[in-house]
Amino acid sequence: MNILILGSGGREHALAWAVKQNPKTDRLIVAPGNAGIAQLAETADIDITDPAAVVAFAAENAIDFVIIGPEAPLAAGVADATRAAGLLTFGPSAAAARLEASKSFTKEICDACAAPTAAYARFTAPAPARAHVQAMGAPIVVKADGLAAGKGVIVAMTIDEALAAIDDMFGGEFGAAGAEVVIEEFMQGEEASFFILTDGTHALPVGTAQDHKRVGDGDTGPNTGGMGAYSPAPVLTDSVATRAMEEIVLPTIREMARRGTPYQGVLYAGLMIKDGKPRLVEYNARFGDPECQVLMMRLGAQALDLLLACAEGRLAGAQVNWADDHALTVVMAAQGYPGSYDRGSEIRGLAALPETSSQMVFHAGTKAQGAAILANGGRVLNVTARGDTLEQARDRAYAMVDAIDWPQGFCRRDIGWRAL
Ligand code: AMP
Ligand code: GLY
Repeated sequence: MNILILGSGGREHALAWAVKQNPKTDRLIVAPGNAGIAQLAETADIDITDPAAVVAFAAENAIDFVIIGPEAPLAAGVADATRAAGLLTFGPSAAAARLEASKSFTKEICDACAAPTAAYARFTAPAPARAHVQAMGAPIVVKADGLAAGKGVIVAMTIDEALAAIDDMFGGEFGAAGAEVVIEEFMQGEEASFFILTDGTHALPVGTAQDHKRVGDGDTGPNTGGMGAYSPAPVLTDSVATRAMEEIVLPTIREMARRGTPYQGVLYAGLMIKDGKPRLVEYNARFGDPECQVLMMRLGAQALDLLLACAEGRLAGAQVNWADDHALTVVMAAQGYPGSYDRGSEIRGLAALPETSSQMVFHAGTKAQGAAILANGGRVLNVTARGDTLEQARDRAYAMVDAIDWPQGFCRRDIGWRAL
């Protein structure tokens, strides 16, 4: 079959890599893609947040299956448009993707199905929000309601920090995303990510992972899109996963269906776990990036069969063939990230690295110039390895990192520390 993957990050490189291994795949196009993706698939430069452009491109290229990677096209209604055009599609409708696009909507769903999450209040003006923070005290969490590229959440350790965040959000720092502000109870515990495929009715867990959001070793410095990840996440034990399914995920799926907006795609539940009890931090309507890289490395070719079963409403009989393995990915970013950084520096040594079912460098912000690979973004490479143990996966990944010659880049040296 002919497959179109939308996106250009490490997540989409990993998806393309797994899909490509499946013999069902004939033609594989990734739009817009990046330099690493171009080594294994065709790429096409289309505006992936324009539903009509995606539908037209798919028709011109006889696409049988569309896989949507990032949240922006989901929120823009691309899955609605491709499904309306009769295309088999992996990814939720814009109405269902509100589970990521609106934090207050997610809270409303949690209330409706009694899913455990942080206590919260919603505000559309600064004065009552400020009064609420004064009354509740710190630590407290201030969130812009809408999509803010992962930057709309302030975990305030002091009242002053919380008040400043409220002023910034209502002051327009996040544009329309900050027109409504959600203020939440600060939850203690250990965070982990849980990934579940759902066809709207049935649900199939496809892996657990832990991300490293802070830029610096020891979880210090500002938040980023994620500096590394590993799977499985030991804190998400079978018993915690079962509770998360029964108390949070399945009630959410039923509530979305009951409202006439069934959720089809991957549901990424960010969980806070304390004393064996999971609570929902947030939902995302897509695979995590870089979490997808470790999930795809563990799933391999079967990933396509699972995504197809999800899109075709056949998850009831589907199952994952798990190996007893571990995967870990280290993000290499341009110096300065998540602040300002330069583009265009050359990355050497990639061609000499083996690309196998247990070692891959997935590209994020890269660009080819002749035979050279240049940095073209903040997060640039995802150096990913699999092993029988997490330690083995980590050692393999860092051996690859050390073989990459890119003085303008950096990475954390402690990915996996929590589990190791
Ligand atoms: P989000 O964008 O909702 O994932 O928030 C970003 C990060 O902020 C999360 O991954 C958590 O580390 C933290 N966070 C969000 N909400 C809470 C909360 N209610 N309590 C504690 N930490 C939180
Ligand atoms: N790595 C976090 C995310 O994809 O949202």
